Amino acid sequence: MEIITVDNYQKMSEIGALIIKEQLKEKSNSVLGLATGSTPIGMYKELVRMHIEESLDFSSVVTFNLDEYVGISKQHPQSYHHFMFQNLFKHINIDYSKIYIPNGNNANLQLECERYEQKIIQIGGIDIQVLGIGANGHIGFNEPGSNFHDKTRVVQLSESTLRANSRFFEDIHLVPTLAISMGLKTILDNSKKIILLANGIEKEEAVYRMIEGNVCSNNPASLLKLHPNVIVILDSHAARKWNKNKVINRVEW
Ligand code: PGA
Repeated sequence: MEIITVDNYQKMSEIGALIIKEQLKEKSNSVLGLATGSTPIGMYKELVRMHIEESLDFSSVVTFNLDEYVGISKQHPQSYHHFMFQNLFKHINIDYSKIYIPNGNNANLQLECERYEQKIIQIGGIDIQVLGIGANGHIGFNEPGSNFHDKTRVVQLSESTLRANSRFFEDIHLVPTLAISMGLKTILDNSKKIILLANGIEKEEAVYRMIEGNVCSNNPASLLKLHPNVIVILDSHAARKWNKNKVINRVEW
């Protein structure tokens, strides 16, 4: 796990975007695993800027999103479909047929999950997976207590995630309680490289537990310590609690 700390959100976003840009320069048809939430918005903005000002080309890129709510339409302003188009896809030259986001409205959710998992494997895995982290340590919607062997599946959102995500809805009761999420195994087994972004004081505890805590299912992000190629990019707030002396700049688990 390599840990990069920077002063602020903007720098965190720029470094995340630079890593993706380097990847696309090396392999134009890269497969990107993408995340939603407040955290990656700045990185997506930077990628859009790179597309416009530096002609960064997305025409051959394939994307897989981590998760999607169950039971709200793709057009719903809080759906992750909507989020991705608003924040990234509609501003770049990506081929819409190469975008994969779980369909939380499939009448057969089980089949949807199986197909999603299969598609990731069939395409040869994910070159770079972008992750945020929940205040409770979740990655994707893999809440504390998730199993390390979990593949893409329907998940029940925890109380703390419902509360955190209610900021985007008029009322907490309108937040979907179910979602489809790539599982911990999906992420760990299929991602060649992972970048995890975290900013803000509300993430300092989760970041500290991820880096210094034991690898355990109650702390899903801790599992990333078992992956050989993870870059964590933190702003100064999210980085505040972990003890920098405890982790040498680059540590291989
Ligand atoms: P946030 O969510 O980026 O909105 O803080 C991150 C997450 O829940 O994974």
